Amino acid sequence: MTGDLSPIDKAKFVAAKRAADMVEDGMRVGLGTGSTAAWLVRCLGEMVREQGLRFTAVPTSSRTAELAREVGISVISLDEAKWLDLTIDGADEFDEDLNLIKGGGGALLQEKIVATASDQMVVIADAGKEVETLGAFPLPVEIIPFGWQTTQAMIEETLVSMDVLGRSATLRMNGDAPFVTDEGNYILDLHLKRIGNARQLAMVLNQIPGVVENGLFIDICDTVIIGYGDGTVETRDINEGTVEQDKLDFVETDNLFTDLAD
Ligand code: 5RP
Repeated sequence: MTGDLSPIDKAKFVAAKRAADMVEDGMRVGLGTGSTAAWLVRCLGEMVREQGLRFTAVPTSSRTAELAREVGISVISLDEAKWLDLTIDGADEFDEDLNLIKGGGGALLQEKIVATASDQMVVIADAGKEVETLGAFPLPVEIIPFGWQTTQAMIEETLVSMDVLGRSATLRMNGDAPFVTDEGNYILDLHLKRIGNARQLAMVLNQIPGVVENGLFIDICDTVIIGYGDGTVETRDINEGTVEQDKLDFVETDNLFTDLAD
C-alpha cells in the first residue's frame, strides 16, 4: 500500500496508521479530508477487508466519501449518524494548545461540523505542521458567492483592528474559475502571517455577513498524532496531558509499516 514513499509521506502514513488503531468495532467515525486523511481511509479500508473491522463513517467531503466507498468502508450521512465517537482529520497548522488552521483542501465547513459533533477529534499530521503561533499558513474562510467582493472588503476592513501581521485576502482559484466547495461556496485565503488572538479572530470573522465559516478550530481537537519520516509517532492528548512515542518500521518484504512496539 505504501510503495516508495518520500519522508513526508511516510510521516503522514505512520500518523494515519496509528490513528486507525483507535477505531473499534461499532464506532461511528468522522473521516477528514486531505492527503493525510486519505492515508487514514486507505488504512481503515485495509482493516475492514483484512481484519473484518466493522464501523460506519461520515466523510467530510465528496472526495473522502468516494475514496471510503472505494476501499470498502460503510458510509452514512451525519444526520443518519447524529453523533460520532471519533473524528480523525489532518490539519494545516496546529499549536501547543491543539488549536488548528484547517481548510487547505477546501473542506473546512463539513470538517468543523463533523469534528464538533464528535466525542473526540484526533488530528494526524507530519511534524512540519506544528507552529508556535498560528497564521503562517493562509487562513481559509468559506464565503457565499453572492457579493463575494463586498464580503472580501469587509473582511479586510475588519482585519485592521485584529492582532494580525498581514491583511490581504485572495479568492481561491481552480484554474481560471473560483474554487467551489462541496456546499457551492467560495474560499478566501487570508494572508495573516501571524495570528495573535486566534479565538477572537475566529469569533469576529463569523459575524461578517457572507462568511459561512472560518478555518480556525479552537478547543475542538483533543489529540494530535505527529508522524516523522523515520516511522516515529508521537501522540499528545491535551485532556490527559500525556505524550507518548513509539515507532513503526518499514518492512521491505511486504511494503507495509509494522508496529515494532506491539
Ligand atoms: C482540508 C484540510 C486538510 O486536513 C488540511 O489541508 C491538511 O491536508 P494534508 O493532509 O493534505 O496536508 O483541512 O480541508
